[in-house]
Amino acid sequence: MDHLSSVSPTVVSLTRYTKTEQAEILGEGADPFGVAETGLTWLPKEEHFGIRLDGRLVAHTGLLRLPMSIGGIETEAVGVGGVAVAPDVRGRGLARLVMAAALDHARTMGPRYGLLFCRQPLVPLYRRLGWRVLDQDVHVEQPEGPVIMPLRTMWTSLHGDAHWPAGAVRVLSFPM
Ligand SMILES: CC(C)(COP(=O)(O)OP(=O)(O)OC[C@H]1O[C@@H](n2cnc3c(N)ncnc32)[C@H](O)[C@@H]1OP(=O)(O)O)[C@@H](O)C(=O)NCCC(=O)NCCS
Repeated sequence: MDHLSSVSPTVVSLTRYTKTEQAEILGEGADPFGVAETGLTWLPKEEHFGIRLDGRLVAHTGLLRLPMSIGGIETEAVGVGGVAVAPDVRGRGLARLVMAAALDHARTMGPRYGLLFCRQPLVPLYRRLGWRVLDQDVHVEQPEGPVIMPLRTMWTSLHGDAHWPAGAVRVLSFPM
């Protein structure tokens, strides 16, 4: 019986999540999320959820409240980012588990939608977790001004079976 089938991992809220904790999960590599080529400036997340196995941090999802406008109407979304699972324990449902707990918390934060940005190869994985592709240009703020997000944008409803409203989508901050 392997480790994960003998214990049931639980998700905890992390009071501290810095480069050190990220490196505990993903190692010290320069570009663990594979997004450096975008050259984008990102925001740190405000709330952090993690899974520890034998005291070692092996999974993380971060959340933050994100100001945005959809069709010219200002609103907020819950941005999801920093989704990470340690390489040696991938493929065992830990991303699903930590994302589910983070989204349960996101549902208490108020905004109607969750939003994330990811590389195209991860779209099927997030679809599997209930996210949908937002197939239109999304502007995000950068130090030089608004740019079109080059990664895929995905969203999920946090309250019931909401639809994404029509209109131009702008994130009114750096992306997460
Ligand atoms: C992306 C990452 C977090 C996935 O972690 P993981 O623990 O292996 O994911 P899970 O085992 O929880 O898989 C989640 C679901 O996606 C499915 N899935 C995985 N790869 C898939 C693929 N290529 N296509 C479709 N579904 C896929 C799994 O089967 C699982 O669904 P199920 O529970 O219904 O079986 C991990 O690979 C990682 O840390 N990568 C590096 C960092 C990164 O790129 N993070 C994303 C930033 S946006």
